[in-house]
Amino acid sequence: MNTQPTGAIGSAIEVKIQDLGSYRQVLGSFMTGVTVITTVDADGRQRGITANSFTSVSLDPPLVLFCVDYRAASYETFQSAEGFVIHVLSSEQQELAKTFASKSETKFAGLETESGHGGAPILSDVHGWLECRLHDTVIAGDHAIIIGEVLRYNSEPARPLGFYQGRFFGFNTDQEIAALAPQLSRIAVTWMMQTEDGAILARRTEAGGLVLPASSAAPKDVHARALAALAEQEFSSRVSVEFLYSVFEDEKDRLGLTYRGQVFARGAQLEQAGFVCLQPSEVDPEAFARPGESAIVGRYLDELANSRFGIYAGTLAEGAIAHVSGVQSDDRVPAGVTAPENATASNSVEGK
Ligand SMILES: Cc1cc2nc3c(=O)[nH]c(=O)nc-3n(C[C@H](O)[C@H](O)[C@H](O)COP(=O)(O)O)c2cc1C
Repeated sequence: MNTQPTGAIGSAIEVKIQDLGSYRQVLGSFMTGVTVITTVDADGRQRGITANSFTSVSLDPPLVLFCVDYRAASYETFQSAEGFVIHVLSSEQQELAKTFASKSETKFAGLETESGHGGAPILSDVHGWLECRLHDTVIAGDHAIIIGEVLRYNSEPARPLGFYQGRFFGFNTDQEIAALAPQLSRIAVTWMMQTEDGAILARRTEAGGLVLPASSAAPKDVHARALAALAEQEFSSRVSVEFLYSVFEDEKDRLGLTYRGQVFARGAQLEQAGFVCLQPSEVDPEAFARPGESAIVGRYLDELANSRFGIYAGTLAEGAIAHVSGVQSDDRVPAGVTAPENATASNSVEGK
């Protein structure tokens, strides 16, 4: 059966039980994150599954859901447990995802846990977690929809783990690029940042030109946590470092990485700290003095107008969009994906 699109909407396929392969293929074309959902059974035994059926349902009250397969050993447990915890995994946690997708009897071996609502285990070192009280269950075909009311949650800076067409993928591009250049002692990091009120941040050179704010990082520090700390040092504010925006070599073959993100402060505050804050409509990319930065800023403005971001890789001198070389396609950052904020404290849902 032809599953390739042949026209504007492709050729429609009727779902028949014997077409499960192509049906799975279309479901798999929906890229998701990956969670591990934990609970505890009536005998006090910790249970957990890997699930990508998680979604947020309602903000007020805060409700989320996931679906559990009737073939899962924990199917009954999730329907009757007092609570459960949804853990959003980071790029480095593919092995954890595989363990919880298995039928292993020792999924929790060696893991640090704290006790959440109804005794559901909260795993440490995940990208984020949501502690839930069981709100409702709905049987839907061969799955049960488990709806939870969020009582507490937490998120930490990390790159998310993704799942697409039956395969895990990570967001490790920048770390891999840094690893390609182990001989380097420092990497130039520049920041393509916007303030809370949408201003683009730059610095003024002595000669009067503009440059993007910059820091210097050791290759080993090219990971979410260290980059967040570096950016917070540069901007003296809470910062969300989102994705790698540009990879370049300067004229001396030094590696440079540009990250985009947000600074949680207003432009006026940052102007006092010596930054130039310009609304996107006021930015003239040609005013950027460093080679290549005009192209980076120009592209950012175009992409901002279209709300669709990609990665740039090339040399500063060329100033043209190129593909990242030496990086597996699986690990490319998909365009338009946004990263979580750098909330680190445990939060209570409002009104709870
Ligand atoms: C990426 C991924 C996503 C999954 N999503 C779900 C899901 O949403 N619901 C589900 O019931 N099983 C899902 N599974 C399968 C379960 O993790 C798997 O069946 C597990 O063995 C169940 O554990 P248990 O039998 O110990 O309860 C997923 C597996 C993977 C690898």
